[in-house]
Amino acid sequence: MKVAVVYESRTGNTAHVAEMIGAAVQELGHEAGVWPTAKANLDYLTDADMVFLGTWTDGIFITGHNPGDAGKLLDMPGIWGKPTAGFMTYALHAGKVLNKMADVVTLLGGEWLGGRLFKRGQLEEGLAAYVVAALDAAEESLGVAS
Ligand SMILES: Cc1cc2nc3c(=O)[nH]c(=O)nc-3n(C[C@H](O)[C@H](O)[C@H](O)COP(=O)(O)O)c2cc1C
Repeated sequence: MKVAVVYESRTGNTAHVAEMIGAAVQELGHEAGVWPTAKANLDYLTDADMVFLGTWTDGIFITGHNPGDAGKLLDMPGIWGKPTAGFMTYALHAGKVLNKMADVVTLLGGEWLGGRLFKRGQLEEGLAAYVVAALDAAEESLGVAS
């Protein structure tokens, strides 16, 4: 599959996860491109079979969690019905922020495959399994035999 990894990041944590996702996707034999939303490669995105969309958690820690810079995510080129997996980083408590990320993906026209939270300071934890599961879900959605 051709996979686009697109993210928002202010201090580098989500960017780091995005790069690790891209590397894991390539190790599994797929093609991957990784960009911040403002630099997303439109041609690549148009051709991509699936998308990983990521950002950071914005809230007041115990409550009010939202995808960070959601406006910038919503400004990216649409993802036109493509299967999309979410990934978000956080510091301490992210509540149900993935539900809000699902709303962002739906507004962008993507098909939400589910998402995962990555805690700052332990960003690699669960990453490999998350990528495998997301690729499997995308292949199932696309009807590709894996
Ligand atoms: C304005 C602001 C609000 C934040 N709110 C939360 C929060 O409610 N819960 C949490 O766990 N982390 C919160 N964080 C921490 C970030 O989500 C976390 O550091 C994240 O990994 C940053 O990602 P980045 O390095 O890609 O910018 C907040 C950070 C900022 C700047």
